[in-house]
Amino acid sequence: MSERLLIRGGTVIDPAHGYHGPGDVLVDNGVIAAVGVNLDADGAKVIDAGGFIVAPGFVDMHVHLREPGEEYKEDIASGTRAAAAGGFTSVVCMANTRPPIDTEGLVRFVLERVRQTGVVNVFPVAAITRGLEGKELTEAGSLRAAGAVALSDDGHPVADAELMRAAVQYAAMFGLPVIDHCQDSSLSADGVMHQGYWSTVLGLRGQPGEAEALQVARDVMLARMTGAHIHIAHVSSRHSVELIRRAKEEGLNITAEVTPHHLVLTDAIVNDMGYDTNTKTNPPVREEADRRALREALRDGVIDAVATDHAPHQQDDKLVEYEYAAPGIVGLETAIGLLSTELVEPGWLDWGRLVAAMSWAPARLLGLRRGTLGVGEMADITIIDPAYRWVVDPQRFYSKSRNTPFAGRSLVGRAHMTIVAGHVVMQEGKVLE
Ligand code: DOR
Repeated sequence: MSERLLIRGGTVIDPAHGYHGPGDVLVDNGVIAAVGVNLDADGAKVIDAGGFIVAPGFVDMHVHLREPGEEYKEDIASGTRAAAAGGFTSVVCMANTRPPIDTEGLVRFVLERVRQTGVVNVFPVAAITRGLEGKELTEAGSLRAAGAVALSDDGHPVADAELMRAAVQYAAMFGLPVIDHCQDSSLSADGVMHQGYWSTVLGLRGQPGEAEALQVARDVMLARMTGAHIHIAHVSSRHSVELIRRAKEEGLNITAEVTPHHLVLTDAIVNDMGYDTNTKTNPPVREEADRRALREALRDGVIDAVATDHAPHQQDDKLVEYEYAAPGIVGLETAIGLLSTELVEPGWLDWGRLVAAMSWAPARLLGLRRGTLGVGEMADITIIDPAYRWVVDPQRFYSKSRNTPFAGRSLVGRAHMTIVAGHVVMQEGKVLE
């Protein structure tokens, strides 16, 4: 049974309705019953949100939950708890599990495990190609019927342009966007970090930003050719930003996301942290001009959404030479703090835009009925304490993995409470069972 909650006295931000101001939110029976000023509700449990931001539940549209197959890194139980701890009420999980999620049965398996062990909503992405091999298409229609919300071979760029053309066209017939990990592998070659000053100084093989942009350019052409919706995952290069900006000006069905680490770090971090493999991600963090372009693109709406690319790995994947280390970092439990500290506090972004990019924007572009505080909608709510000071301690993560370059960072701002369908699942950093 779901209780009545009155979230009182916060700053309500609801991008779907263009509201940003003082207000109360009443939750009844798992749905939003009212939003207004000085609401009264007999018998409701009152949550004092004074000084806090009350936002639609955050949606992370790019998460690796590793189940099935790599449960030692993460599973649906631990990954959804990490999400709740970080203020996310929904995560969209990628298909590069073992085996990859490329059949109807595997989509149903993930959803069944979510029902058994999850504490937030999980929306699965299915593979574009069988086994993520880039050769043979999966069956968009039955994957959609089983519950997939998009197709992606994330981690593996789809090199074959004709295959990708067919993929986006079929996916569009079933209303599914295709999320592309853009990288021209012939140009990125074996690059393990951004190609630039620091790769030269450090003697590591680099991959240029142009390797990403080349495939973005191809996708822009395919979107124009087919009218299909292509979403560019984890944009890292200023050259990609420019292509996405022009595609949007032209009215093409291209959307994009950016990660907190690409917004916060530059390639100098590989030097600063002495080749620490927790700085290795794919795509890599790039140079200052790229970081600036990403920040501006997020601010201006050229990049629609923030997504963490939460990519858990264990020590045996990371405690090796830089070139052999698995790429990826965990992101769910640091996202809000990093973005609040590094983007909102210095004035790059206001809370309104950040909340939109983390809730309404990803929900809308995936066609999910989430990310809004509209009356009658699901009561998924994230309450943010923008002034809370804390230090990142990976030992306290709910994730099974600790691969973060942000250990020891002082941050201001965190999720204070996570509410899923009217149930409080996290309070003051503690996930409730
Ligand atoms: O850094 C990354 N890690 N990038 C990807 O595309 C895949 C991901 C993973 O699965 O570990």
